[in-house]
Amino acid sequence: MDPVINPFAPGAGTSPPELAGRDRLLEDARVARQRVRNGLPAKSMLLVGLRGVGKTVLLERLRLDAEAEGFHTVQMEAPEQRSLPALLAPQIRLALLRLSRLDSARDLAQRALRGLAGFASRLKLKYGDIEVGYDAEPEPGLADNGDLELDLQTLLELVGEAAERAGTALLLFVDELQYVEEEQLAALITALHRVAQRRRPVMLVGAGLPQLRARMGRAKSYSERLFDYPEIGPLDEAAARQALTMPLAANQVALNEDALESVLRRTQGYPYFLQEWGKQVWNTAVGPRITLADVEQAERLVLAALDEGFFRVRFDRMTPAERRYLRAMAELGPGPHRSGDVAQCLVKPVTALGPVRNQLIHKGMIWSPGHGDTAFTVPLFDEFMRRILPGEDWRAG
Ligand SMILES: Nc1ncnc2c1ncn2[C@@H]1O[C@H](COP(=O)(O)OP(=O)(O)O)[C@@H](O)[C@H]1O
Ligand SMILES: [Mg+2]
Repeated sequence: MDPVINPFAPGAGTSPPELAGRDRLLEDARVARQRVRNGLPAKSMLLVGLRGVGKTVLLERLRLDAEAEGFHTVQMEAPEQRSLPALLAPQIRLALLRLSRLDSARDLAQRALRGLAGFASRLKLKYGDIEVGYDAEPEPGLADNGDLELDLQTLLELVGEAAERAGTALLLFVDELQYVEEEQLAALITALHRVAQRRRPVMLVGAGLPQLRARMGRAKSYSERLFDYPEIGPLDEAAARQALTMPLAANQVALNEDALESVLRRTQGYPYFLQEWGKQVWNTAVGPRITLADVEQAERLVLAALDEGFFRVRFDRMTPAERRYLRAMAELGPGPHRSGDVAQCLVKPVTALGPVRNQLIHKGMIWSPGHGDTAFTVPLFDEFMRRILPGEDWRAG
């Protein structure tokens, strides 16, 4: 069928033709933000899940929903090598400049901009990567202690006061939160705790890999009570069906039941895989009715596209030792695996592998679902590792 009108959208953060199976979460988020705006207690939200389950597109959808309801939002993605204050400062500035255009909030937004100037100029000594324009002179004593935990509390409170005066709430959308250093996460948690206690309308909507939850807990033990951690997983069968059939139906294309079941089985309901299968099957089929033979014929294209577009980028960032560790895990199957079993597979003592394992967790490749357990953060990564490093040569590597 014509690739020009192919509706499927595999890609990191690429919005799907049909956002299937997330209605409940969208509704929970709506309730939470409305409560925050009205000064009622509500928890900030952290979406946790593996790669490719749709966290980034959910964040964006939640942001658009909130904007449509008149909320103020800012959006950012935590990169591996940047400090949280450097990430936050320009976004908070943006939010404050918008708030300062409203008559009701102008004074408080100006005061918060003075706070931001103090915040950024003092913390720049410690976090050299802070780059933000100043719209006001710092006010001595306002968010300028030079201590991130104290100053971020003050700053978020000032922002919250301005948002409250404007009758709105500020929602901070932060993706890839697992990359934020623990000490900086702790400061963020403390600041959110403070604004929640004072019922200021500021809320975090974050997303990250499953290790985020334990990381938050280590940063501040009370963070469990402060946040909701909705788990974003593969789509259930009904939603996965919808994700495929709705975009097809919109184009007057039908899909045989056995063809559909075959795709559902191969993708296990993972959104990224559903999009890639949908795309390649569409391009392969003559239509307007897709058959099992079309699905089978598309398989090689799908695997090649996934290897290049989804798996490979992660593999390329690994050192040889990290690759061997991942390959040994793959040898044992999809996982999770005991660290001892991986070590045995590599014929090394567990302790000798500790640093590699930690490095892989840090890079977001694996996580620990329970003490001594190790699992991939990328679904079906074991199959990919066996495809790309077949045979036994990797052991010598
Ligand atoms: N609910 C959904 N239904 C159908 N496809 C989805 C859904 N959520 C995400 N996708 C698709 O899955 C892919 C991965 O989404 P993304 O948000 O980048 O995942 P993550 O951030 O969890 O790695 C994208 O191609 C997107 O279009
Ligand atoms: Mg993402």
